[in-house]
Amino acid sequence: MKKKIILPAIMIIAAAALLFTACNKKTSYPTPVKATLYDSLGGTAMVSDPAHPGTMIEKGRLGIRNVVDSTIFVIAADSRINGHFTVLLSEVTAGNLSGFTELSDNLTTFVAVATGAKSYTYTGLSMTDAHNPATNPRMHNKATSADFDAFVSDLVTGANKNKLPANLINSVGKLVETLRSQVVQM
Ligand code: HEM
Repeated sequence: MKKKIILPAIMIIAAAALLFTACNKKTSYPTPVKATLYDSLGGTAMVSDPAHPGTMIEKGRLGIRNVVDSTIFVIAADSRINGHFTVLLSEVTAGNLSGFTELSDNLTTFVAVATGAKSYTYTGLSMTDAHNPATNPRMHNKATSADFDAFVSDLVTGANKNKLPANLINSVGKLVETLRSQVVQM
């Protein structure tokens, strides 16, 4: 009879001791590094830059630049909003690409940094100043909320032209949406 009680009791104590030592063991795991949207867009892996043979560029930045450049072309042909870009369009029509190159560079850096890139610094105008004709003479008239919607739809077209997966288009769209009140100032 006594044996019947002692054996299970020993087993319970042994199990508890085992559990205690297991929980007490210090296991060191590597600190998890949180993946950013920039990582999903290609991240920091260096790849050759097709626009500048012989130079390298982060894969994330290249992917964003491709979408940005496609989007600028879509906007240029979009009569809903291309009236805001009259300065840029008249330069390009005259064969002067300096404004286009600067806009492409600024927009690319802006999106790269906003999605988590660490290797670049955005030095352009604030979103408020960039979209106020008083502080940016390249912006013709203030943008309305409908203009903003058209801009987003052109961005989606530009992203699709570059076969960006739907989930990433969605994430970029959400990020862009947070800027509506700074861009739309009327
Ligand atoms: C969240 C959405 C948007 C972002 C992130 C964005 C971003 C930018 C950036 C980074 C610049 C360059 C600033 C600089 O040169 O320092 C810029 C310029 C400009 N943006 Fe936007 N923008 C957005 C929406 C819009 C909308 C909705 C319009 C009008 C429909 C617009 C019209 C312009 C124009 C006309 C310029 C000047 C282009 C040039 O340099 O010739 N933007 N924007």
